Amino acid sequence: MEHIKLDISRVYPFIGKEEIQKLSRETSEAQHTLYKGSGPGNEFLGWLRLPSELSDQQITEIETAVAGLRAKTELLVVVGIGGSYLGARAVNDALAHNFAHLKKGRKAPLMLFAGQNIGEDYMHELLELLDEQSYSLVVISKSGTTTEPALAFRILKNHLEEKVGLEEARDRIIAVTDTSKGALRQLADEEGYRSYVIPDNVGGRFSVFTPVGLIPLAICGVDIRELLSGAREMSQRCDPSLPFEENPAALYAATRNALYRSGKKIELLVNYNNKLHYVSEWWKQLYGESEGKEGKGIFPAAVDNSTDLHSMGQYIQEGERTLFETVISVEHTHHRVTIPGDPANLDQLNYLEGKHIDHVNKMAELGTILAHLDGGVPNIRITIPALDARCLGQLLYFFENACGISGYMLGINPFNQPGVEAYKKNMFALLEKPGFEEESTRIKSRL
Ligand code: PA5
Repeated sequence: MEHIKLDISRVYPFIGKEEIQKLSRETSEAQHTLYKGSGPGNEFLGWLRLPSELSDQQITEIETAVAGLRAKTELLVVVGIGGSYLGARAVNDALAHNFAHLKKGRKAPLMLFAGQNIGEDYMHELLELLDEQSYSLVVISKSGTTTEPALAFRILKNHLEEKVGLEEARDRIIAVTDTSKGALRQLADEEGYRSYVIPDNVGGRFSVFTPVGLIPLAICGVDIRELLSGAREMSQRCDPSLPFEENPAALYAATRNALYRSGKKIELLVNYNNKLHYVSEWWKQLYGESEGKEGKGIFPAAVDNSTDLHSMGQYIQEGERTLFETVISVEHTHHRVTIPGDPANLDQLNYLEGKHIDHVNKMAELGTILAHLDGGVPNIRITIPALDARCLGQLLYFFENACGISGYMLGINPFNQPGVEAYKKNMFALLEKPGFEEESTRIKSRL
């Protein structure tokens, strides 16, 4: 069976193989802390064994439950922010047709998003579209109180109820939230929405293999069985009983920490396939929110190549030498487009006649990796056989597992996010939310 591969050999010119090997004991301790649940944040480790724990029957239940909604939905609006939308978006965008929104005769609903920003024009234009097409809503919030999705859902719920009537709206709304707490749970119970639970022991950014990711993806026709099998396969390959050199999550965690300790403070996740853009966004949240605390942490950034070679390429090649790259390389494309010959050859591309576009892309990738190595940028490479649900399941679980190990190696709690409260407090004070009177007075004196 094909699976994703990790290659760290292009780090060795910067950090010797033995240096990374020296971290094996520390990595193994971090792994054991994770698997034994003896570290900080251990109340949020449900994701670790989740892919293997989900039964066939539970998957069938999800598939059956959403089939009716799929049949009558043209557009599925996923309402959520951060960990409550990025997983579904990452998988959906990676698997969807590039021009799905323009294609006629779609077989499954198109996934759209709301509540991931506070854009007034965004909402207005979304409502304009929803006036014209049949749609359903999946509203996702673990806390049930996050401002952005709550605001969007209030507006969309009104719109849907006015458009299709109360009863039909109820049938077209699914809530994914806490089992008992929060405003969304209360609303879902009162309105009688179909609802799914985000397990207490899984934080937002680790929730892609829970109903947070599975419900919207299943509605939009993604093969969630394959996604979960990929995740399961990877969870076996990351088992802490395996030797360090054979465990991709352990190796990745050790390598990035070795690089960080040598002064490489920024990790660039690089893709050469535009469909991976939101996988990078998901990864940025996973690592940024897990590791960036207590004045520590690798800064996670991302580029889409070759597009960004024409914008960020200069900096990566010659700017401050605090970067390393992790390239996600997709081995096989789904389609082939052959480069034609041209008698005039004005563009001087005849030397590529008969070659496939992906051959050029692969040479751009290899050429860039080698150029960046010459420029002082170490390279980790993750190869995935193809962009399909199974490989994505492997990839996302691999990153989650490595993130837990890496966070413990860094000496922080990878499963909390105390820093995200600061902006909320200020925003509520500025909006004069009841209960924030003192903060309002204080913040206004600063303006
Ligand atoms: O990872 C996280 O915890 C956050 O990104 C949350 O997912 C995000 O803030 C949304 O929270 P909630 O699901 O409670 O609305």
